[in-house]
Amino acid sequence: MTNLRLASAESASLDIDAVVIGVVTDDSGPALAPGAAGVDEAFQGRLVDALSGLGATGKPGEVTKVPTFGNLAAPLVVAAGLGESYDAETLRRAAGAALRSLAGSGSVAVLLPAATSDEVAAVATGALLGNYAYLNYRTGDGDKRPVSEITVVTEAEADSGARAALDRARTIAEAVTLVRDLVNTPPSDLNPEALADAARQVGDEAGLSVEVLDEKALVEGGYGGIVGVGQGSVNPPRLVRLAYEHPEATKTVAFVGKGITFDSGGLSLKPSEAMDWMKSDMGGAGAVLGALKAIAALAPKVKVVGYLAIAENMPSGTAQRPSDVLTIYGGKTVEVLNTDAEGRLVMADALVRAGEDEPDLIVDIATLTGAQLVALGTRTTGIMANDDDVRDMVVGAAGSAGESAWPMPLPEELRKGLDSAVADIANISGERWGGMLVAGIFLKEFVPDGVRWAHLDIAGPSFNQGQPYGYTPKGGTGAAVRTLVQVAEDVAAGAL
Ligand code: BES
Ligand code: MN
Ligand code: ZN
Repeated sequence: MTNLRLASAESASLDIDAVVIGVVTDDSGPALAPGAAGVDEAFQGRLVDALSGLGATGKPGEVTKVPTFGNLAAPLVVAAGLGESYDAETLRRAAGAALRSLAGSGSVAVLLPAATSDEVAAVATGALLGNYAYLNYRTGDGDKRPVSEITVVTEAEADSGARAALDRARTIAEAVTLVRDLVNTPPSDLNPEALADAARQVGDEAGLSVEVLDEKALVEGGYGGIVGVGQGSVNPPRLVRLAYEHPEATKTVAFVGKGITFDSGGLSLKPSEAMDWMKSDMGGAGAVLGALKAIAALAPKVKVVGYLAIAENMPSGTAQRPSDVLTIYGGKTVEVLNTDAEGRLVMADALVRAGEDEPDLIVDIATLTGAQLVALGTRTTGIMANDDDVRDMVVGAAGSAGESAWPMPLPEELRKGLDSAVADIANISGERWGGMLVAGIFLKEFVPDGVRWAHLDIAGPSFNQGQPYGYTPKGGTGAAVRTLVQVAEDVAAGAL
């Protein structure tokens, strides 16, 4: 990973490839943000003139490059827009956009506002997340290489929280990067076994306890949902359990992630244009793995258990059929009317199983429905729950982590649409509307009695099909990792 350093304004060597500064929008036009004064001096106080001349306004998302012509040791100044006023997310996005524009450079100093440790954390996190590239399958693409060294220049005392903030940023970015890499991996190279192996490796390295159920153990254990979804593929399914426990933990949180390594729809086959991004259908399981990795490093006073419900959803002579009935772990039966509503089937097994850890809270994360995209667009996670306080707590955690999320209801009247003529419940509804909520209502049936539960539908946010923006690249985004880490920390701090 990129080398990340902290330096004070005085000690910062500017013998580098580029310096990043912030530009805000003033009444009269662009103005320099805190941190840029030294660079302005090198420009004889005419940096704003140079920026205005290049058309910079300081609006968020804007990146303006100014050559220094030897005024500074660094040949290039990159000015990132911060708008009229900026918060942590603005700083993350500005740092991310600036670093993205510098792909291929060697060493970069970031002089965005970083007077407090919160600002240091935001700038460092945004810079690291923006400095992402997935190059595993490229040959000779030097210009897309990430920056190798990032120096965050701060006015904060080095012995204040600034160093801890930097370490935290590194931990979070490494976890998000892991998930992006897993999501971006072609599904031929990330089948269920490979994802479970990756989880085992990450878990072992992080000191987590790891348990992997293979296809035989899943059949013997009665995990009918995961087995049913996985039976059409030559690549058999897995269930992974990861656990982190602080010695002084008083609460247990369980995370449950959807890990469909490829969702063709099964016999209810998807059309081609809906299938080409279905390698992202393990984004929920990825987020659980990434969160556990970060939590192990951050060591909050809580117990966290993570389940990854992993299968490949394929059509074949052994695939489950529309109208087959599955028995979920714990005994409830489901009539599979549409094999493309597979996520809720694997999640049902894992939700019931998570009850055995006697959690105080279950949070599940799934790329569950196209309806999430219809309701909330590509970037905003839908959060549903069986308890309004828990829902608001998780929405709040997403907000403080800088992830876009919105509370959604679980209307009781949607349950009757899931009535089955033959089994306890059907996996799709006769009701056309509110598909994200219907999926949530289905999952709710499998939440252990008396356990508080929240459900995150990240169908859109987990994968960016559009252009990169801020610190978000094309492809896998690592959505929900930061939210889950924040939930664990909030619970450790007494949020439940
Ligand atoms: N993995 C998809 C949901 C999805 C859609 C994720 C678009 C990311 C982007 C899920 O398994 C699925 O196919 N859901 C169906 C459910 C329907 C059959 C009730 C859907 O949303 O169309
Ligand atoms: Mn599907
Ligand atoms: Zn799916």
